[in-house]
Amino acid sequence: MTLVTWGPLVRAAVLAAGSIAAACSPSGDAPGPAAAAATPSPGRLVYLAEPCPTCHGHGREGTNTGPALHGLRAHWDEDTLARFLHQPVAFKLADPRLATLALRYKSDMPALFADPARVSALARYLLFE
Ligand code: HEC
Repeated sequence: MTLVTWGPLVRAAVLAAGSIAAACSPSGDAPGPAAAAATPSPGRLVYLAEPCPTCHGHGREGTNTGPALHGLRAHWDEDTLARFLHQPVAFKLADPRLATLALRYKSDMPALFADPARVSALARYLLFE
């Protein structure tokens, strides 16, 4: 399932980067600064490929099904956040802050099933971008 949505996105990003690079550099073989700015980071690509934006918003601004995802460094480090993404309900049961937050929403946050490298990239995106 994940692979089905991830593949086209990566291809689209690579194609986009390629065409911008071709437009910006005379040789067309090295991406210029514009390509770096236009290409989402790996973690952002994971965020967009998974169902996260449905509940948390395209720009992490929150929706009526999930909270805004800003200032997460106050509560999470990268490893703990990655573990949370694998088993959010277990964390909610153990953490009164998350339990209180969850009361505002009808559905539980679903668990993310993805390989560790993708989950780490996603966690870094949430914490540092
Ligand atoms: C069906 C809606 C839904 C989807 C899809 C969803 N979430 Fe959530 N998320 C929630 C809700 C509701 C909470 C509130 C707390 C809880 O239930 O754990 C939450 C909590 C969170 C938190 C904790 C926020 C805090 O203040 O510490 C993070 C981080 C998060 N989600 C990230 C993600 C990411 C990344 C994805 C995609 C892999 C995702 N969520 C997909 C509904 C969703």
